[in-house]
Amino acid sequence: MATVILGIESSCDDTSAAVLMDRKLLSNVIAGQDVHRKYGGVVPELASRAHLQHIVPVVDRALKEAGVERSRIDAVAFTRGPGLLGSLLVGTSFTKGFTAALGIPMIEVNHLQAHILVHFIESGETGSLSPAFPFLSLLVSGGHTQLVEVKDHHHMKIIGRSIDDAAGEAFDKCAKLLGLPYPGGPHIDRLAGEGDPLRFKFSKPRLEGLDYSFSGLKTSFLYYLRDRIKEDPDFVEKHKADLAASLQKTIIDILMDKLRKAAKQSGISRIALAGGVSANSGLREAVEEEAGRLGWQLFIPPLGYTTDNAAMIAITGYYRYLKGEYASEDIAPVARMYF
Ligand code: KG4
Ligand code: ZN
Repeated sequence: MATVILGIESSCDDTSAAVLMDRKLLSNVIAGQDVHRKYGGVVPELASRAHLQHIVPVVDRALKEAGVERSRIDAVAFTRGPGLLGSLLVGTSFTKGFTAALGIPMIEVNHLQAHILVHFIESGETGSLSPAFPFLSLLVSGGHTQLVEVKDHHHMKIIGRSIDDAAGEAFDKCAKLLGLPYPGGPHIDRLAGEGDPLRFKFSKPRLEGLDYSFSGLKTSFLYYLRDRIKEDPDFVEKHKADLAASLQKTIIDILMDKLRKAAKQSGISRIALAGGVSANSGLREAVEEEAGRLGWQLFIPPLGYTTDNAAMIAITGYYRYLKGEYASEDIAPVARMYF
């Protein structure tokens, strides 16, 4: 009989529940939190309170949409970390209560591994094509930027990471300087489509190896704007699209440079994108172009699976379930988690 996994995601500001039957996605419900918008970033205390309000209705809806009875669920997979502790605590506590009541196992999932395994979900949007092993994942989110060598569903090795800000953070912080709402990544993406990416030049890090750095770019963007605004207070308004396009191009160039290097060094030509920033249209175009040039086999997640969702938690939980890797009842969430 097919395995049914309920996935729960609550690591940041999205409460999500998904139901998976083997690899097939039956439902994926996501409740975002508008409450953070006016603060220009996620407020942890408000996030955990909103998770508390959302979690029961979100799980209820996921089960209804899937047409699955509680008694049919084999296990619940939940995000243990990394993320905001108060937010993670809501998903973890819910999972403990739910699995105890049903007498079924709970499975801990690393949120970052889950982003990477999103390509194994079967749905109308994703189809059933998933990367063969090994493959190289460029994981670009609001909290992380990593190059990961994926050996199988369970074994992954980080071969490059950001030593400071994540790529998504660079998008969001620079967007804020342009007066754009949080999260700024999608706004930069949209504006960039109307601007000239070669109009402005911003500094790129000179870092050996496969590690990334984005804090210098943010500072160079800030100083550049500050100097120009001194000369012309309307500078940002007049050049918003060109600034967005040039900034986006710089971030993509930085990402692509190390991705190319990682592919060459590892000899792996199956490349998969993951994480919120992989929704970026410029990045998608850039990897597609490079794939054509270098003969990479490319795996780009459908837009709905780039940002945080419980479908990715459920698929990761599914593979752990097959190996009998269950969590103990006294498991606690962790803000930092490595693999
Ligand atoms: O993976 P994710 O949903 O959450 C984390 O685990 O961090 O990623 C969120 C990040 C935010 O920084 C957001 O600005 C960025 O993904 N993002 C984008 C786009 N869509 C989302 N960045 C650039 N272009 C986009 N289209
Ligand atoms: Zn994420």
